[in-house]
Amino acid sequence: MKYDFETLLTRHGVGSFKWDELREADPSIPDDIVPLSVADMEFVTAPAIVEGLKQYLDLHSLGYTRATDAYYDAVIGWMARRHGVTVRREWFVEFSGIVSALRHIIGVFTEPGDGVLIMTPVYHHFRMVAEDNGCHVVESELLLKDGRYEIDFDDFREKAERADVKLCVFCSPHNPVGRVWTEEELRRVADICLENGVFLLDDEIHSDLIMPGYRHVPMLSLGEKYFDNLAVCTSPGKSFNLAGMQASNVFVPSEARRLAIQRKRSRFSLNALSYQAVIFAYRDSEAWLDEAIAYIDANRRFAVSFFKEHFPEVFISDMEGTYLLWVDLRSFGMTVGEQETLLRKKALCYLDEGYIFGKRGEGFERINLACPRRVLEAALLRMKDALTAYKREL
Ligand SMILES: Cc1ncc(COP(=O)(O)O)c(C=O)c1O
Repeated sequence: MKYDFETLLTRHGVGSFKWDELREADPSIPDDIVPLSVADMEFVTAPAIVEGLKQYLDLHSLGYTRATDAYYDAVIGWMARRHGVTVRREWFVEFSGIVSALRHIIGVFTEPGDGVLIMTPVYHHFRMVAEDNGCHVVESELLLKDGRYEIDFDDFREKAERADVKLCVFCSPHNPVGRVWTEEELRRVADICLENGVFLLDDEIHSDLIMPGYRHVPMLSLGEKYFDNLAVCTSPGKSFNLAGMQASNVFVPSEARRLAIQRKRSRFSLNALSYQAVIFAYRDSEAWLDEAIAYIDANRRFAVSFFKEHFPEVFISDMEGTYLLWVDLRSFGMTVGEQETLLRKKALCYLDEGYIFGKRGEGFERINLACPRRVLEAALLRMKDALTAYKREL
């Protein structure tokens, strides 16, 4: 490999959410324990981003900044090259992070008391941003059918038909179950939303992280018929590990919708460095991402065969996209609390507990695979010892 995915940078004391949380939860945690929770990467930043930012700082000031031609070209070029979809410059609404975008857009297209439809288990902030706007969440639970998560379309339609439901926040690819939705599935979701006047707020933050053999279908590629009912959220935050830059682009093809969103938005969105980081990522770092995906895919295969060898009874959802492995530990028969305590205290494994993504996530763990292999292997070995000891004591 040309790029470095083996060096582990310390993130202690620099304000990393997950590393700080780990220390807060257990101040005596050894220095070499790496949390595999929150979705950012334990990889060194792509060299073109590091070098580009250094040069920018050498040459330019950090005054008020807006999107440049180079910025639009980089994003539009990426969407065309990587996803085969044409994005028009006037569709852009930049936001400082997708969670902020979701919160804002839900506020624009709903009234307090409205229902927001989500497919659970799902990224937990979907619920939070709906509730922040005084909306209630209406859940359509994904079905686990023959070892694969699927949308329960009968249930989804029924919920979309409800008078209180005004907006759907959709996750494509889906965090945490790892599905990369097919064109047919996406079309059915888009049709049901359109037919029922449910605005489709589509979060494609994980769309650059697609494992070999799968293809992300952008919602914007399904045709103009859906354009008035759609906003698509994208970001290099996950794929290029730029979460701390909080740079996202929401594409809103409908002018009326766009103006409604812009009217209530702060004038400033990204900052001087995040605009640049987006350019250096999309324009100059594609080869890095390809290697990162290959590395993550190898981590996925490693983790799946580890479980197969030591705990064949454990179900693991096929990680078609994202770098988040969704692992079902329900066969151990622990309560949610016992499982969390065992993993944290005995295995020193700080993962994201499945229950945070919804009731159907109880008993599952979400393991972040974007880390050096030895870090993953060490965590799995600690987990194996703790789970084996637990089984022995039963
Ligand atoms: C589906 C999804 N949307 C949004 C985010 C967060 O996006 P941002 O950091 O741009 O707010 C995440 C982070 O894990 C995510 O998984």
